[in-house]
Amino acid sequence: MVDVVLGGFYGDEGKGKIIDFLAKDADVSVRFSGGDNAGHTINVNGKKFAFHLIPSGILNKGTKAVLGNGVVINPKVLIGELENLKANDVDISNFYISEKAQIIMPYHIKMDELEEAQRENKIGTTKRGIGPAYCDKFQRSGIRAEDFVSGKFEEKIRENTKAKNILFKTYGFEELNAEEIIQEYREYSEILKPYIVDTIGLLHESIEKGEKILCEGAQATMLDIDFGSYPFVTSSNPTIGGVSTGTGIGAKYIGEVYGVIKAYASRVGEGPFVTEQKNEIGDLIRELGHEYGTTTKRPRRCGWLDLPALKYTVMINGLTGIAINHLDTIGKLDKIKLCVGYEHDGKVDMKYSNNEAFLAKVKPVYEEFEGNFGEISHIRRKEDLPEKALKYLDRIEELAGAPIKFIGVGADREDMIIV
Ligand code: IMP
Repeated sequence: MVDVVLGGFYGDEGKGKIIDFLAKDADVSVRFSGGDNAGHTINVNGKKFAFHLIPSGILNKGTKAVLGNGVVINPKVLIGELENLKANDVDISNFYISEKAQIIMPYHIKMDELEEAQRENKIGTTKRGIGPAYCDKFQRSGIRAEDFVSGKFEEKIRENTKAKNILFKTYGFEELNAEEIIQEYREYSEILKPYIVDTIGLLHESIEKGEKILCEGAQATMLDIDFGSYPFVTSSNPTIGGVSTGTGIGAKYIGEVYGVIKAYASRVGEGPFVTEQKNEIGDLIRELGHEYGTTTKRPRRCGWLDLPALKYTVMINGLTGIAINHLDTIGKLDKIKLCVGYEHDGKVDMKYSNNEAFLAKVKPVYEEFEGNFGEISHIRRKEDLPEKALKYLDRIEELAGAPIKFIGVGADREDMIIV
């Protein structure tokens, strides 16, 4: 069976913690979408590993780590991660890159910067070239990992750089030199070639053998290009459908689908955020939860947990379980608010739609809960949590329509309740 971990809201929900736990039993861990716009840090035996691309399952001996066909790869970042793993004696012989994965090029990064600079309504992208790389994929001019193997990347770089330079020139920007890019990418291709394989075949062989596969989501549901708060989204499908299109694994193989959320909400970049607290509460949550971006270091916007939005996430992904992080963080407040519905068009209900006009007119309806949970990071059974915390969790479960299966109670990896 194939289990999946997805981001429930706007990313940065602490997926790494759940992934780490589940990856221990996995024979294969796979990334299926996005690129180095994602990021999480893992501490193992006092060593710190920052991952943007490689599935963190690589840290478990014998676990195969796969970058699926849905991923866009910055080769420089990937090589940096591989070198760091090697330097720390992590075995990388089990690492595989899909031959169909797209390669991020210098012109993608430049386009990302320029397009963002031109926009009146900024998206707040991570400027890693993600959007432009996916554009080229769909325009069918993208360079795939297989082009490193065949050597065709050189000719494609020449052709693409020529086309991009016409644009750069039109806008009065500095042009790029194709030969310089080729030289740089020739080196990358030599290093990465041995890892490039048919991952579809590899994954299905694993399925046939009865091996356990874990699909590691990056980004999150509200950042989905189709189902998120467009245009303030990323350029891929970090939702459940992205698992199939980004790996070649059909729906019938998929077992558990976990959505990771926090006991409050946060967002980086622009876009609607109904329960945002642009006040001292938001500032307090940011400080208590250390809500600053891993990839961009930007301070995150913070607010209350939004249950109409959570119900939408449950529905879109068909979640079989919810993982809720930072229960300890929210438990440090005196009073906690939970958005239990939206007031709109003269009524209050749980309707959610990622439609800008709808989200602009709704008013969040809150219920208030007692905070001050006390020290809970040592607790490992749900029933041992204080009554106040259980009340909060029960209400979330009741309205979200999916069971809570993991509860993060502290900053350490082990600070987790498995329900
Ligand atoms: P892009 O993915 O760099 O194009 O950025 C598009 C939007 O998605 C921006 O608002 C980013 O801040 C957001 N985003 C992209 N990746 C992540 C992530 O891993 N966590 C949280 N937000 C992200």
